[in-house]
Amino acid sequence: MNTTPDDESTTEGGEGWSEDMELAPLHPRDAQAAEPDDDRPGERLQKVLARAGVGSRRVCEDMIDEGRISVNGKVVTVQGMRVDPETAVIAIDGRRIDIKNDKITYAMNKPFGVITAMSDDRGRPTVGDMMGDLAAGLVHVGRLDQDTEGLLLLTTDGELAHRLAHPSYEVKKTYLAQVSGSVPRDLGRRLRNGIELEDGPVAVDSFDLMDTHAGQSVVEIVLHEGRKHIVRRLLAEVGLPVNRLTRTAVGPIELARMRTGTIRKLTRSEVGALHELVGL
Ligand code: URA
Repeated sequence: MNTTPDDESTTEGGEGWSEDMELAPLHPRDAQAAEPDDDRPGERLQKVLARAGVGSRRVCEDMIDEGRISVNGKVVTVQGMRVDPETAVIAIDGRRIDIKNDKITYAMNKPFGVITAMSDDRGRPTVGDMMGDLAAGLVHVGRLDQDTEGLLLLTTDGELAHRLAHPSYEVKKTYLAQVSGSVPRDLGRRLRNGIELEDGPVAVDSFDLMDTHAGQSVVEIVLHEGRKHIVRRLLAEVGLPVNRLTRTAVGPIELARMRTGTIRKLTRSEVGALHELVGL
């Protein structure tokens, strides 16, 4: 059984790191991002630009405001224009760009002991090492602790990574935790109502007791935030130290039967589901 290590064995972020700290504050326009697309033909220009890797949708909107974008030879002056990505000729500062979607997103079953980083100057094994030749251009979506196993997404789509990890998009993550001790009957209710931690309260979206045996229990927790060690700290706070932690889902993407250390490319429909979840 894995033991809970001290902080030395955690990811490279350092003490006090949390996913939210690495991310820019929410821009007012991002609030509009989660709104469903309307059903007029074509796709919004800023969405096509962002998907082509020009920048975040906000950056693309700024470029439109600045008159730097043209479609079929005409400079676009308003936001919200719709284009057919199959046929539109889009240019930035007069130079045509390739708008085909060539972004790739992978799922990995991260093993225990591997750090969530693309490289490490201390020579520790990283998820970047595991991706090998596929690592070019990839970013990991949030982080798992070195001693946490399970589903980690990696993508070449920076905007998708940003949104999936940003707390404002409230993407749900599911964890299975093996804990020492038996689980009090009212624990689910307490966790749903919220527990006070040293850096503020945390509430789970759902809690289920899956198994209890020989002084150990397995619980499933769904929550939508990414503070450092959040599941371990939450369960320790209610008297249930975590011995083993596995992430089994990120939003609609499930670990399912992936064996430890394996990697798979997400299908188009899985990527579509992630896009829909975060308003892309
Ligand atoms: N919560 C933790 O405690 N660790 C992780 O790796 C992820 C969530």
